[in-house]
Amino acid sequence: MRKLTDELGNAISNDNFSLSTGIPGITVIEDTYMMNKLAHFNRERIPERVVHAKGSGAFGYFEVTNDLSKYTCAKFLSNVGKKTEMIARFSTVGGEKGSSDSARDPRGFALKFYTEDGNYDLVGNNTPVFFIRDAMKFPDFIHTQKRDPKNNLKNPNMVWDFFSLTPESMHQVIILFSDRGTPKGFRHMHGFGTNTFMWYNEKNKYCWVKYHFKTEQGIENWTDEEATKLSGTNPDSSMSDLYDNIKCGNYPSWKVYVQIMSIEEAKKYRFDPFDPTKVWYHKDYPLIPLGRMVLNRNPQNFYTDIEQVAFSPSHFVNGIGPSPDKLLQGRIMAYPDAHRHRIGANVNELAVNKPKSPMTTYQKDGDMADTSQGNTKLNYFPNSYEDVYTDEKYRTPDFDVSGFIQRHTYPSSDIDFEQPGELYRRVMNDKQKEILINNICGSLKLADLKLQYRMTALFYKTDVNLGTRISDKLCLNIDNVRALAVMTQEQRVLNTK
Ligand code: HEM
Repeated sequence: MRKLTDELGNAISNDNFSLSTGIPGITVIEDTYMMNKLAHFNRERIPERVVHAKGSGAFGYFEVTNDLSKYTCAKFLSNVGKKTEMIARFSTVGGEKGSSDSARDPRGFALKFYTEDGNYDLVGNNTPVFFIRDAMKFPDFIHTQKRDPKNNLKNPNMVWDFFSLTPESMHQVIILFSDRGTPKGFRHMHGFGTNTFMWYNEKNKYCWVKYHFKTEQGIENWTDEEATKLSGTNPDSSMSDLYDNIKCGNYPSWKVYVQIMSIEEAKKYRFDPFDPTKVWYHKDYPLIPLGRMVLNRNPQNFYTDIEQVAFSPSHFVNGIGPSPDKLLQGRIMAYPDAHRHRIGANVNELAVNKPKSPMTTYQKDGDMADTSQGNTKLNYFPNSYEDVYTDEKYRTPDFDVSGFIQRHTYPSSDIDFEQPGELYRRVMNDKQKEILINNICGSLKLADLKLQYRMTALFYKTDVNLGTRISDKLCLNIDNVRALAVMTQEQRVLNTK
């Protein structure tokens, strides 16, 4: 038995009835216990994540199964058999914190590795590509997937207007509307780093990598009907599936692979290897085994473990760094900024975010600063009193850049349609093609006719069979679709204004 106290340790005589003048009666201002209880309650929420608000996660470990230390000096990847503690958070993207787990949406796949050299985060999705390739477009993109500012309703015109004005989104659009857009919980999906990253070794020789996490539970997806029904019957389906399986010892796991490209090859690859709307062909860059990730521990306190966990693509460790991928460059700034807004300046002092390796910093004070205060007594560096040094060994590779600073327009090109076309023609079987077309038409038919034409022309450009079948299903005039498909994007937009 333990005595109930307030947050300062004072014993409480009664937690059921307020201090008042009688029944009926006036509650007195002197009841500071009740005032504090109500005031604390008012402050129980932090802002939800501006994207990926609904999610859940678990703790586990990452184990190295293949020695790739010639490419990276990241210590946690140094030896076969080495295990590193980690946390994963999975999420949907567009919905609010209480929204349905089975919504058609990409799924977030965010990982934090508590390495001996500090925390390394890999903040990916369950898809190998993304809708856009320049961070500048992200707020507009997300606005179109969320609610119409006018009436707070979802608006199919916003969704399809954006996609039809952003042809590079086609690859991800096809994945989203395939059966992979509604995975059967978080355990049954792959994960991808999506962006390209730098790996470098002790000699500061670097290369480019992409990460792949292959589910050992197998890919399983809901049909559109099942997903829609589940939204009503169990909106927390993915969260409970993850929690229940870990609880009963059925630990989900993923095999981890990388693709590696040399700097020389990157200069010659037949498309921009830093464009996150495209995959590197596996026949050019086969998957190289790296390790295995296992999730074996549920959160004990959802709020402190999952709500307050803060992942960022800028959280690198020695041996891993960014690449000249413009989407990643924007993300590197956006996440720590979101954390300062959502949680506060000392977000990394919270247990779930704190490195498990020694930490020594002169960043001080701010809201909710904890007692360690950076493990330093002074607040400036260098100083003549504390034996703290910087180490040149941790220098990142020199990266040669030249050029003119301007808002470089990314050339729009038919190569954006090549991979989505191949995905439809070569990867999808007849059943999957039918599912894709039904899912696209179920949503696109809700948009204005001009957007149906503009978008169907893009599907036609991707694959004639795909465009024709969508056109038929939407009862569009196929001659108009064909005519729009051969236009430049600018002409197409002008002709469908
Ligand atoms: C310029 C592009 C992007 C920007 C500006 C951006 C921004 C953000 C922001 C502000 C958050 C909320 C962070 C927080 O409050 O903790 C977030 C969450 C997230 N983003 Fe992005 N994002 C971008 C692209 C991407 C891409 C390409 C992926 C995956 C491939 C991705 C995956 C995630 C995931 C998984 C989360 C949730 C992390 C968690 O579980 O806490 N984002 N993003």
